Amino acid sequence: MAEELDVEALFRAAASIQRQAYAPYSRFRVGAALLAEDGVVHAGCNVENAAYPVGSCAEAGAIAAMAGSGARKIMAVLVYGEGEELVTPCGACRQRIREFAAPETPVLIAGPGGVRARFTLAELLPASFGPANLPR
Ligand code: THU
Repeated sequence: MAEELDVEALFRAAASIQRQAYAPYSRFRVGAALLAEDGVVHAGCNVENAAYPVGSCAEAGAIAAMAGSGARKIMAVLVYGEGEELVTPCGACRQRIREFAAPETPVLIAGPGGVRARFTLAELLPASFGPANLPR
């Protein structure tokens, strides 16, 4: 990316929406923020459900918000959560991100103290299957 990534804007968006997470079952609240190709930041939080498997991840919410805006490219991702361990995206969300991101797209993992780790999507999801793998 030519411009410097505004990590602060992603952090603020993810930390802010994390407080709105609906997580009465796990009590584990997550916020995610995406930078779209037009410079707009989209955010989402996890939304759980009494029928447990129906719950959705923060990343899924952020991607839905981005797609609804018409944007189709993820330039950077930041996931915000609490706890000792890094809150890295689950396998399904790595694939969801893959649909709209490049292998080198940064995925930042943050907590209350700030950014804790930085990966590329390819590090989290190597040899992945994406839109170009489908026959035309
Ligand atoms: N969760 C997310 O929203 N994103 C992640 O990256 C990891 C996990 C949610 C799913 C569930 O609501 C709760 O965290 C516990 O797994």
